[in-house]
Amino acid sequence: MIIPSKLQPKARGLMSLQEYTRKEIVEIMSLSALLKKDRTRHRLWNTLEGKTFALIFQKPSTRTRLSIEVAIRELGGHSTYLGWNDLQLGRMESISDTAKVMSRYLDGIIARVHSHNDLTIFAKWSTIPVFNALSDTHHPMQALADLFTINEKKGKLGALKVAFIGDGNNVANSLLIACSKVGLDLFVASPKEYVPDPRIVKTALSNAKESGSIVKVTTEPKEAAKNADVIMTDAATSMGFEDQSEQRTKIFFPRYQVNEKLLKITNKNSIVMHCQPWKIGEEITKTVAYGKQCVAFDQAENRLHTSKAFLHFSYSP
Ligand code: CP
Ligand code: NVA
Repeated sequence: MIIPSKLQPKARGLMSLQEYTRKEIVEIMSLSALLKKDRTRHRLWNTLEGKTFALIFQKPSTRTRLSIEVAIRELGGHSTYLGWNDLQLGRMESISDTAKVMSRYLDGIIARVHSHNDLTIFAKWSTIPVFNALSDTHHPMQALADLFTINEKKGKLGALKVAFIGDGNNVANSLLIACSKVGLDLFVASPKEYVPDPRIVKTALSNAKESGSIVKVTTEPKEAAKNADVIMTDAATSMGFEDQSEQRTKIFFPRYQVNEKLLKITNKNSIVMHCQPWKIGEEITKTVAYGKQCVAFDQAENRLHTSKAFLHFSYSP
């Protein structure tokens, strides 16, 4: 039996990709490609041997939960899944006490929360790394898979125009950080009431100055989609905002929808991406979602390879 090591020399967790440099993100992309290839050759990596993780999820998940659970397992580690209400958190035990207790047993915490602030409290009081599996403001593990998918399909991570059409939500925020870090041009088109958080746009603009990319927020979907190499969208109503669904549907559709007409003004070989789950007929039409330009299922698969790469990067000596 291997006794878990409590030493994590490199692991520093993940709140948002802003904490990682361009060089580190590029390294994670290369590791993802290698891990993806090695998986087909049944070549095993054992970075997480003897390590145990908890996944604490306050909201449902298919891709994130499974890709991370499988990633941990394929890297030789163990994980346990806990819904928020399985823990005493559901009975109002404080996040700080929970984090302190969990740190005595585990090597890392992966959490999906409503409030990003709760995640930062977890990170503050844990002595082990805490990883963001989606909060109301960021979805960095998704953004890693998005970058990897763009690189895989387009062969580069620069000199490309990415368009995000829809809600300026967690996925859009993480894309703003990710694209501006690596040097991809990003145009976000959202209704004026739902533009991304101005603080995140400011951070992205400052990253873009360094990487040489363009970041633009507009209310005009056509401006974003015109000559785009990648066109992306997400649900208008994110988890936790269901009470606004009716109002959002009225504001977003049909204007902020990735459909055949919008796709026509993108570049000829453009790809369509969506983090999923999608609402067919709302932010994306059926013909586009299941059409030949859409790579959403490859993107979903890439959640596994990029999660493995990120965990390997974090825990390898
Ligand atoms: N894209 C994504 O995070 O999907 P899940 O909600 O299924 O994890
Ligand atoms: N923006 C969506 C992403 C789901 C993966 C949400 O937060 O519900």
